[in-house]
Amino acid sequence: MNFTVLTIFPEMFSLLLGGGIIKRAIERRSISVEPIDIRDFAKDRHRTVDDRPYGGGCGMVMKPEPVTKAIQHAKEQGPEAYTILLTPQGRVFNQGVAQGLAGHTRLILVCGRYEGIDERVREHIDDELSIGDYVLTGGELAAMVVIDAVSRLIPGTLGSEDSAREDSFSAGLLEYPQYTRPRSFKGSDVPEVLLSGDHGTIKRWRRQASLFRTVLERPDLLMEQPLTTDDIEFMKKLRQDIKSIIGKHSTAS
Ligand code: ADE
Repeated sequence: MNFTVLTIFPEMFSLLLGGGIIKRAIERRSISVEPIDIRDFAKDRHRTVDDRPYGGGCGMVMKPEPVTKAIQHAKEQGPEAYTILLTPQGRVFNQGVAQGLAGHTRLILVCGRYEGIDERVREHIDDELSIGDYVLTGGELAAMVVIDAVSRLIPGTLGSEDSAREDSFSAGLLEYPQYTRPRSFKGSDVPEVLLSGDHGTIKRWRRQASLFRTVLERPDLLMEQPLTTDDIEFMKKLRQDIKSIIGKHSTAS
């Protein structure tokens, strides 16, 4: 997977490229990340990339020429590239979107800045992504989020292929609790079942712990999720337990 990032702050990407799993993936050549400075495509000696909005209003708008020239340049390196604008107006990025993007071989990520980008740039864009319903000062952090989430799905990036397959959102549920040594930490013990060596029981306990977390924190995820009869039985029992607790407290008060 090749990522080309068009930005006016290419130095921001040294944070992502300087260490950890992404750096190792680049060294192993499972991915490449190339930040390109949009200012290199400005035509004046001040390297201007923004201007005042037609119609008035506060803030500056990114000019269309440097951005579209930068996109053209990036496309020349690989015309099969899929071009994405990072913007709060985009569709919301999630694990499913990351999996879809991992199927491409080349992504061009265009980072918007200032109050926005000239509307005519959109003609050169295949997709628009937002990393959440809040407004950042620019698309750079969003591009880094996309690069990180997509990269770990590319074979060879993670040490073990299982880590990507088994994690929270790929399985459609939140992840079960994990423990490592020591067995007892400040009075809190590792659940007995995990020490049993009984793989079947551990698997079932983990599934139910995942279901429990998902019911509490993200019940919306369960609407889309195929559930087994064992899952349903577990949730019915949970519902019964909750009802009994509520019943006990309402008779007490
Ligand atoms: N640029 C500014 N805010 C953003 C967001 N939430 N997602 C993607 N790009 C952005």
